[in-house]
Amino acid sequence: MNNSVTVIDNRTGKSYDFKILNGTRGPSVVDISSFYADTGMFTFDNGYTSTASCTSSITFIDGAKGELLYRGIKIEKLAEENSYLDVCYLLLNDALPSQEESKKFDLELRHRSFLHEELLELFKAFPSGSHPMATLSAAAAALSTFHFNHLDMCNESEYQTMARRIVAKMPTIAAFAYRHSIGASFIQPDITRSYTENFLYMMRAYPGGKMHVDPDGERSIKEIEIKALDTIFTLHADHEQNASTTSVRNVASTGAHPYVAISAGISALWGRAHGGANESVIKQLEMIGSVENVDAFISRAKDPEDEFRLMGFGHRVYKNFDPRARVLKNLQVQLQDELHLDSNLMQIASKIEEIALNDEYFVSRKLYPNIDFYSGVILTALKIPTSMFTPIFVIGRTVGWISQWIEFKKSKGTKIARPRQLYLGK
Ligand code: CMC
Repeated sequence: MNNSVTVIDNRTGKSYDFKILNGTRGPSVVDISSFYADTGMFTFDNGYTSTASCTSSITFIDGAKGELLYRGIKIEKLAEENSYLDVCYLLLNDALPSQEESKKFDLELRHRSFLHEELLELFKAFPSGSHPMATLSAAAAALSTFHFNHLDMCNESEYQTMARRIVAKMPTIAAFAYRHSIGASFIQPDITRSYTENFLYMMRAYPGGKMHVDPDGERSIKEIEIKALDTIFTLHADHEQNASTTSVRNVASTGAHPYVAISAGISALWGRAHGGANESVIKQLEMIGSVENVDAFISRAKDPEDEFRLMGFGHRVYKNFDPRARVLKNLQVQLQDELHLDSNLMQIASKIEEIALNDEYFVSRKLYPNIDFYSGVILTALKIPTSMFTPIFVIGRTVGWISQWIEFKKSKGTKIARPRQLYLGK
């Protein structure tokens, strides 16, 4: 066979051919779906470092070049020229919206941003002080009880309604989860505000108080904050088959409700090796405390006997600068100039970045600052509470998860996700 890979079992001398499949970009894959039937063995790939688990046309990453495309368009271009809602439309519809489509989409999401009154009881059932990520995961799952008909959807327009509903509601769920965590009453969505402004409003406003976009007001919402957060949402919108998206697809493969699949994605994202890193970055910078202590912590990160890792550094796919991190680095500089920021945390972060980008340990392992390194610092500058950093990642990523869910459902010949194991027990 020409376009194939041959595997030889050196114990028996038997050889087996496996077909090579080519995508439109990126590495080809070897189709090993018949490997067990042919050879009687499984393949072993701890952490799926060499495994493609599906076909997809949504997002493409070239980790060596540091390139990220949503539906074929570069992330830098989208972050510069498009709103987050237009990016949501792109991911869901495979094309950017016209002006009219964009307006209609925005309006529909504003109307869908409210939560059923009965869902509010769920938030109240959790102890105040609970982490918003835990509440968020539970509330996403609970949404399935209000929209149970989504379990039996069978056409594209139903998929799209289900998707717009959860994208619209996620900022409200996140803001309510936060307000409950600090014992504050809920602020209902204000449909005169844009998606991103509304989230800031629901999180920050005093009960009954008015809050407008105002460049001078102390507790107001500044245009630059809305733009920065909108960009952060765009940069987080999708990232192909990462741990949380794979969790969503695995749940989808069993036929469960789509909002329960999203809840699984939220839970997977919470861990600090994944989306939880943005919160850990700030906790780590606070622990380091001052620029003078940076060297000692870098030494700890390099010590193989020490479990300490530099949060916000390294990535499974990027072996070059994460393109999202590059956009955020520029945004950080812009915010520093416009908001006159020069905090102790920013100084520590700059020192770490400077050392790590030149240190042999980090250079040889291709450990660059990732998106979470800069987003943590920027969200702190925007006075976003640390416990809300990962929920903000959730808001941005919900559209990616649901787009991947729809793609899975529309694909032909999908199977339940069911890996095997190398048994070492009794
Ligand atoms: N600090 C110090 N050493 C590191 C770090 C780090 N942050 N990351 C990787 N290494 C070392 C690791 O010890 C190993 O060294 P050696 O070859 O000597 O054993 C080598 O680099 C390869 O690491 P790995 O753990 O095999 O790489 P991975 O692809 O399995 O893990 C990662 C990727 C992101 C989980 C890891 O780099 C990490 O834990 N980083 C810190 C947490 C973080 O910032 N996570 C956010 C990722 S980006 C956003 C997202 O996906 O949500």
